[in-house]
Amino acid sequence: MQLLSLRDAASIGDLAAIARRRMPGFAFDYLDGAAGDDRGMRRNEEALAAVLFRTRHLVGGRAQTAVEFLGRSYNLPTGVSPMGMANMLWPGMDLVLARLAQKVGIPYVLSTAATTSIERIAEAAPDVAWFQLYVSRDPAINEGLLKRAWAAGIRVLAVTVDVPVPQKRNRNHRHRFDLPFRPHPRFLLDLLAHPRWAVETLRAGMPNFENFVPYAGLARGGSITEVGRFLQAQGKRDLLWEDVERIRGLWPGHLLIKGVMDAEDASRFLRIGADGLWVSNHGGRQLESAPASIDVLREVRAAVGPHAPIVFDSGVRTGESIVKVRALGADLAMSGRAFAYGAAAGGAAGAQKAYDLLELETRYTLLQIGCPDINNVSVSILREGADETRLLHLDPVAVH
Ligand SMILES: Cc1cc2nc3c(=O)[nH]c(=O)nc-3n(C[C@H](O)[C@H](O)[C@H](O)COP(=O)(O)O)c2cc1C
Repeated sequence: MQLLSLRDAASIGDLAAIARRRMPGFAFDYLDGAAGDDRGMRRNEEALAAVLFRTRHLVGGRAQTAVEFLGRSYNLPTGVSPMGMANMLWPGMDLVLARLAQKVGIPYVLSTAATTSIERIAEAAPDVAWFQLYVSRDPAINEGLLKRAWAAGIRVLAVTVDVPVPQKRNRNHRHRFDLPFRPHPRFLLDLLAHPRWAVETLRAGMPNFENFVPYAGLARGGSITEVGRFLQAQGKRDLLWEDVERIRGLWPGHLLIKGVMDAEDASRFLRIGADGLWVSNHGGRQLESAPASIDVLREVRAAVGPHAPIVFDSGVRTGESIVKVRALGADLAMSGRAFAYGAAAGGAAGAQKAYDLLELETRYTLLQIGCPDINNVSVSILREGADETRLLHLDPVAVH
C-alpha cells in the first residue's frame, strides 16, 4: 500500500488515512467512529453522494464562495463543528483549528467539552469563534459558561439538544475508551506503537476539560478522568423546552439549536426564540438508525420557509457536498471530522490542507455546474430541482 504524504493527499479521505497512521487506535476510533457499528455515519455520506447536479454550460464568470450569515461574512460556507476532547486526538488541535478558522474566515465552534478554555480560543479566533453549550443540571454552570463566552467576545451560541443519553459507540467500547476510563493493557501497546503522538501529548501536557475545571472543585484542578466524570454527571439528560427557553433568556447574542432532526421541532425552536437551526445527527454519533441529515434538511427548510438561518453538518467531506447542502437549504455546511482528520494528519499544515481541498472543490463545482456565485445556488442546480414540488410538499409554516 502506498504511504501518502500530506502534500500528495488528494481528498479528505486521504487525510483520514494519514491521520489513522499517526494516531493511536483509541483516538482514531473516537474520531472516526459513530453510534453502534457506524451505519448512520455512512448513511450521511452516502445520502450526500446520491444527490446529483444538473450541469449548465457556457455560463462564464468567476467562482464566488463568500456568504453572509447572521450579519457576518464568511469566505466559504463551511466551518468547524464543535468537538469535545480534540486535544486528545492530536495535541493542540483546538487551537490549530481555531487559528485556521480565523485565518481563512470561517466559523470555529468551541465545545463545552473542549480541551482548551473559552478565553484562549476567543483570543486566537476573535472574529469567528462561536460557543456550543451542553446544558448542565446546575444552572450556575450554564450561566457561568455563557457569561464567560460573552465576556470573551463570542456572539453566536449553539445549544446541543441531541444527547439525552451517553451514546453507545462500539469502536470506543472495544478500546474501553468510555467513562469511567479503565485503561486496558492494549492501551499501552497502542501508545508504544505511536510514539510521536505520545511524546507530543506529554510535551503539550495531559489534556483536560478546561472549561469545566473551575466548576468541578477538585484538588489541583483534577485529572481529565475526574473532571470528565463531573462533566458527565452534570449532563442534563432530561432537557425540556422550558430549559431551552431559559437559555434563550440568558443569552443576548444569536442562538442556534444544534441537533435538529425533525421539521416540527424546527418550527417550535424558532417559535420559542431561537435565531436559527443546526440540522445535524451529530455525524451519526448518537443514533445508528437516524435518517441522513441531508434528507432531514430538505424537510426542515420546507417547514420553516426560506428565511430562517440554517446550519448543517454530518457527512460533509467535499466541496461538491458543500454546494449540495446550500442547494438543499442550509446557509453553512460545517464539518467536524473533515477538519480534525486534517489537523491530525499534519497539524496546522494539515488543517490548512483540509480547508484548501474543500475550497478548491467548491470553486470547481460552482464553475462546472454553471452557477459561479454560491449565493445563486438553489435547488434548481440539482437534477431533482426540475421537480421542485417534491421538496415543497410540506406547507411552509409562519415562523415569527
Ligand atoms: C470527535 C468528535 C467530538 C464531538 N464532540 C461534540 C461536542 O462536544 N458537542 C457537539 O455538539 N457535537 C460534537 N460532535 C459532533 C460535531 O459537532 C458534528 O455534529 C459532527 O462531527 C458532524 O459530522 P461530521 O464529523 O461527519 O462532519 C463531535 C464530533 C466528533 C467527530
